[in-house]
Amino acid sequence: MLPSRAAALLDALPGRGAALLARAPGRVNLIGEHTDYNGLPVLPIAIDRDVLVAARRRDDDHVDLSNTGAAFPPRQYAVAAAIPPSPAGDWANYAKAAAEALVADLGRRGLGALPGGAFRVDGRVPLAAGLSSSSALLVACGLAHLSLAGVALPPAELAELFARAERYVGTLSGGMDQATALLARADHALRIDFFPLRARPVTIPASAVFVVAQSLERAEKSGAARGHYNQRVTECGLACAVLAQRLGVAAARLGDLPGPERVLDDLDRLLPEDARREMLPALTGLAPRELDRRFFAPGTVLAAPGRFELRRRVRHVLGEAARVAAAEEALGTGDLETFGALMDASHRSCATDYGVSTPALDRLVAVARGGGALGARLTGAGFGGAIVALVEQAHVDRLVRTLDREFYAAGSAPPEARLVVQPATAASVERVDP
Ligand code: GLA
Repeated sequence: MLPSRAAALLDALPGRGAALLARAPGRVNLIGEHTDYNGLPVLPIAIDRDVLVAARRRDDDHVDLSNTGAAFPPRQYAVAAAIPPSPAGDWANYAKAAAEALVADLGRRGLGALPGGAFRVDGRVPLAAGLSSSSALLVACGLAHLSLAGVALPPAELAELFARAERYVGTLSGGMDQATALLARADHALRIDFFPLRARPVTIPASAVFVVAQSLERAEKSGAARGHYNQRVTECGLACAVLAQRLGVAAARLGDLPGPERVLDDLDRLLPEDARREMLPALTGLAPRELDRRFFAPGTVLAAPGRFELRRRVRHVLGEAARVAAAEEALGTGDLETFGALMDASHRSCATDYGVSTPALDRLVAVARGGGALGARLTGAGFGGAIVALVEQAHVDRLVRTLDREFYAAGSAPPEARLVVQPATAASVERVDP
């Protein structure tokens, strides 16, 4: 028998006959923040909070999309090579993004057209909390749509496709969220490398528990945080172009630079602290038109399009990549103290050099450390959202009580404001026969 959540979704799905259920989990990044789009590794877990989609094929190209959440009104559109987006921030854009990318991909592979369908969504990943609710929505809708077409693709290829697809909402995101949703393994963290995408499971010591605590400041990827996120991506790309020119090497991303330790040691000499837009041709050796093509595509929303931080951004990114490697090793040897210390260092670097923390996130980290966490850091893009804390099994209750007393007591926090998360399994699709 189907669990009641799935049965309720199927009951409310228009049409009759065979249907399917697709689910995709949210994620918590343990360490490796703002490294993915730089071609450097991350270390996330998928969490036991997911988006579930029931879907049924239609004979035309029409999509009938609905959601159990009252905040997400039903939407209708046609599957096409270019699907007009809903206004920025609208939930349907994530389903449209997946459909548009799949139309192009199936076309390229000669696999035919993507059919329309009825889709009903139930999301249980906390929203705008840095836990990737939007990527889980995109992946679950995309998987459902692909299965309606009768096509199965390797998960790693899908992860790359869906990561690119998310550009539809105007964020220059990396590939961590979609890769985690599609490649995660229960009870394990995932070390993910990019360009090309590679992932390997990392064992988590039995005594390690991860607690997520939301700042209750919304960090919407397609909303206010978008310009700040894109600004960081652009700053890293520009800094890479300056470094490539100075070092006389070819590098598309910071992760391509040879000898990152030497770059870090010599950063003050190699990179100016920041650059105004008009200084970029001289600093990078690139013509204005080439700079526009690579970094300033029309429609890209940037928080500060005239001035770019360079040195501090690179210090964070290269330092963070080294911390991911050390953290993976620490998990392997069961050295939770070291893992915790690396999380603390990551948070400091995110806050100071990368500028993506907020006073509430900093306070949450401090409260978590005072409540027995071995380490704590903001997780996800930042600008609000949540922190993740590492705590030994024996001290979970104390940590949760401390968070409740010292952070949440004054407000009316929902029960899911802090969650003890379990490393969960990857996305999946299941057929449901009538
Ligand atoms: C968001 C993006 C990811 C990643 C993180 C920061 O979640 O979607 O690709 O860049 O921010 O680490």
